[in-house]
Amino acid sequence: MFSRKSLVMYLTVFTIVSFSINNYAFGNAANKGWRSSPDLVEELTKRRSETNYSEQRVPKYTLPNPLVLLDGTSVTDARTWRTRCRPEILELFRKYVYGRAPIARPKNMSFKVFDRERKALAGLATRKQVTVNFTGAKDGPKMDILIYLPNAAEKPVPTFVVLNFGGNHTIHSDPSIKLSEMWMRSGSDGVVKNRATEESRGRSSSRFHVEKILKRGYGLATIYYGDIDPDFHDDFKNGLHPVFDKLIDSERAPDAWGSIGAWAWGLSRAMDYFETDDNIDNRRVTVLGHSRLGKTALWAGARDERFAFVISNNSGCGGAALSRRRFGETVERINKSFPHWFCENFKKYNGKEDDLPVDQHMLIALMAPRPVYVTSADKDLWADPRGEFLACRYAGPVYRLLGLRGLGVRQMPGLDQPVQKGTIGYHVRSGGHNLTEYDWQRFMDFADKHFQR
Ligand code: GCU
Repeated sequence: MFSRKSLVMYLTVFTIVSFSINNYAFGNAANKGWRSSPDLVEELTKRRSETNYSEQRVPKYTLPNPLVLLDGTSVTDARTWRTRCRPEILELFRKYVYGRAPIARPKNMSFKVFDRERKALAGLATRKQVTVNFTGAKDGPKMDILIYLPNAAEKPVPTFVVLNFGGNHTIHSDPSIKLSEMWMRSGSDGVVKNRATEESRGRSSSRFHVEKILKRGYGLATIYYGDIDPDFHDDFKNGLHPVFDKLIDSERAPDAWGSIGAWAWGLSRAMDYFETDDNIDNRRVTVLGHSRLGKTALWAGARDERFAFVISNNSGCGGAALSRRRFGETVERINKSFPHWFCENFKKYNGKEDDLPVDQHMLIALMAPRPVYVTSADKDLWADPRGEFLACRYAGPVYRLLGLRGLGVRQMPGLDQPVQKGTIGYHVRSGGHNLTEYDWQRFMDFADKHFQR
């Protein structure tokens, strides 16, 4: 869509007008903000010598300015942001990072509520389970949404939608949750689906805290990400890809969607269902994801502005962390380990982060004017906590252009000191790569504030 010439011009203009960031300044002695433990840095560096875990070794870099158009024009008003700048940036992410979904809402998609229980969880909630049949065809791809809505809350209820890794039945021990069919790798056959066993029921409940969410007056909806697309590099033979890719071309284009694109698209189809459910407040749906699913939540929120609040938990490389810092996981590393997550074009930037027409602060800026919340974890240096914080900070000019406060702070906060002053929220939590009750409580604090509850 963009000529080489305009891209070159775009990058040149950025280099001239954009801000140069010597990020190490954030770690100086006057700053009481978070710093990684030197022992941890040493230990991780020993374990993975090819990976940079040290702030001193972050190269100097220049970020693209999110408020400059491809033709070099500075964006100084909200209307130009909305009508020209935002669509350009979104298209750059589609083309060079996550890939393009071949279809919006399929015409024959159908919803079937196969379970409705008004006295679930000892009367605390109403539980629903809904099958979304993406094509309407009997043997076509489907996903199941598990929904709990608090009985005590006024309807419609603001609701969190979260993809899960282990199957819907793993988020709670409720015996009525349908056991998901799980994608598994199987010898020479590649990938197959098998029904999960009872043993795994409730296994990831420490990441969901269902009762606590309901008691704070929020609904929770969750979907097994494998229902949408298996998380294996299978040459896009399973899940959604084979069904919808054929609508476009016989060969996969360099900007064809990968798995993150498919998972994010699935979230939009869940939103389509929420719009039909009178008990869900579809104007206050929050999309939340952890790790690779945090990358997915950000991409879902960028593509689909029906999500009113977007949360990235420990999403790291290809999520909230700035790629140009090359700290922890890098573009090359992620593309080699997970060749199916992003589009083919993204691989051209392996080791060439400075050539990328975007960086992840621009992804965060695509949420504006909606609230967005990013978390890091103290021990999760692989995901580059400081790079995640900086992406939030440098999304700020877009929020300010729209008359809002971004993060509202310039320096990285201390451990367990959430920043919730503006429209961008952030915290770095003690502990490792995980989604914990602490994180959930902070998300609900921020949601309370922005949803005026
Ligand atoms: C790996 C990967 C990360 C990802 C994480 C996860 O660690 O390198 O990019 O976020 O898996 O999804 O758990």
